[in-house]
Amino acid sequence: MNQKIILVLSLGAVLGLSACSEKDDTDNKPAAVPQGPVAAIHKSMRPVAPVKRWYSEAQVSRGEVLFQQNCAECHKPDASGDPNWKQVNAEGKLPPPPLNGTAHAWHHPMPLLQQIVRRGGVPMGGSMPAFGGKLSAEEINDILAWVQSHWPDAIYAKWAQMTAQAARNKG
Ligand code: HEC
Repeated sequence: MNQKIILVLSLGAVLGLSACSEKDDTDNKPAAVPQGPVAAIHKSMRPVAPVKRWYSEAQVSRGEVLFQQNCAECHKPDASGDPNWKQVNAEGKLPPPPLNGTAHAWHHPMPLLQQIVRRGGVPMGGSMPAFGGKLSAEEINDILAWVQSHWPDAIYAKWAQMTAQAARNKG
């Protein structure tokens, strides 16, 4: 198959996927798994070219330092979080989840990720401290860049799609 056809087909798969995820409440449900013809195209097209990342290498390096200073004590130096992150502890709070693409963080579009770090988890009944008074918007973005550099391409692609979708819905 020539390159042009591959491009058109994988674009179709991406568009099909975004149509599915529109109906989903992506915060509470697992990501939509493509069904039927979309799934068939999806399968036959692997490996799909990786989506271009929004951040630079410089941001990732700055973010790593900031993450180790501000976040690692809870989310672990490699962002792997607490293995029991799904179970509330004795105080009825959730432990710090992994941020490395294995848990839930990638279900949140960019503005929500930024907001969680800025405001912390307390307003939502959680226990993560707020960093809005301590870190600038740029520093928070650098940290998120480092966090996302741990996400495999397939996870990153789904997140990028979700973030684009959220921006469109906002109008
Ligand atoms: C004192 C411990 C602690 C520190 C420090 C901390 N977090 Fe958290 N974080 C948590 C907990 C606990 C949660 C789960 C939600 C809650 O209880 O607030 C969480 C949730 C999150 C989430 C949402 C993940 C999801 O799957 O929904 C993100 C993103 C996040 N933290 C990023 C960060 C970043 C970035 C930093 C550093 C700037 C940081 N956290 C520092 C404890 C912490």
